[in-house]
Amino acid sequence: MSKVSSVSAVADLVAWRRHLHANPELSFEEHETARFVEERLQEFGGLELSRPTPTSVVARLRNGDGPTLALRADMDALPIEEESGVEFSSTKPGVMHACGHDCHTAVLLGVARTLVGRRDELAGEVRFVFQHAEELPPGGAGQLVAAGVLHGVDAIVGCHLFSLVDTGSVAVPDGPFMAAPDTFAITVQGRGGHAAMPHTAVDPIPVAAQIVTSLQQIVSRETDPIERAVVSVTKIHGGTADNVIPETVELGGTVRTFKREVQDATRDAIERIARGVAEAHGCTANLRYEEGYLAVDNDLGVAALVRRNVEPGRLRHLEPVMGGEDFSAYQQVAPGCFFIVGAGGPDRYPHHHPRFTIDEQALPVAQDIFVRTALDYLRPG
Ligand code: NI
Repeated sequence: MSKVSSVSAVADLVAWRRHLHANPELSFEEHETARFVEERLQEFGGLELSRPTPTSVVARLRNGDGPTLALRADMDALPIEEESGVEFSSTKPGVMHACGHDCHTAVLLGVARTLVGRRDELAGEVRFVFQHAEELPPGGAGQLVAAGVLHGVDAIVGCHLFSLVDTGSVAVPDGPFMAAPDTFAITVQGRGGHAAMPHTAVDPIPVAAQIVTSLQQIVSRETDPIERAVVSVTKIHGGTADNVIPETVELGGTVRTFKREVQDATRDAIERIARGVAEAHGCTANLRYEEGYLAVDNDLGVAALVRRNVEPGRLRHLEPVMGGEDFSAYQQVAPGCFFIVGAGGPDRYPHHHPRFTIDEQALPVAQDIFVRTALDYLRPG
């Protein structure tokens, strides 16, 4: 396979990425980012541009008859104060591209420019989806689907750079791959009183402690060990003084699953355990459960298409991860594949860390996979 990216093209990818990195914007606030993207796309020429929501951009490249392939990049940053020390660090206090979405945006711009220059090799349509708000539920992907952005799309491909995977390694998983991230909150209601007279009160603190302990059995004892699930209690708040039994205790946490039946069973088990344990001790428990994004579940056919367009030697196996991604919203309406490109710099801080960095050598690797996949899928005749 020949390299798609020339030296000057890679220099542009890096320059665009660094501009975006220095000027991050939070979810649903990507106004300048969308403007930057739209301006670059206008410069490339030959694209039909639209703005389906205030901070997203869609570009259509059409040539003759054939299928429609959507390519997606997310564009939003996070409410984190940057400590990476790079010279193109965020100029906005408290906002940072700490997940690499600046890179995804730059890469898709590079893909668009390359394919505009090679449009004669395409039969059909490439639809470039520059999506807002991946990081913040309800997520931009669902909004773009609702806006009809995927009408007529036969397949969709997206990618994420990963700082914890070696630069240049690529993973194209089959099937369920990133989890559905739900959140829950439980209020344990007792009756407050004097700590020296517990018999005159109904103490919610030991009850909350028992609920936390009992919730550990959902994954260990109730879930098929072949399935993947996480129940993490991450918050516990109750009480104000050493000598006062509080009225209530608040618990909170997250559930991560891959399958609807496991998700439903986990939710039901949390409710049953919380209510049952509370009732056994004269308390009540009220569960509030919020479903987050659906699980990312790669279509086998689209994954095979992407995989055969990865340079030999780059492919690695990657176990499913329990993080979430709203790319799953697209997969409800079109077969899709979300692939991973390693971008581990020397420091290897995880995503969403104030010192997170990306090895920019991963940018052309991702770009080449998108370009080759589009040329392959839309090959004339
Ligand atoms: Ni991300």
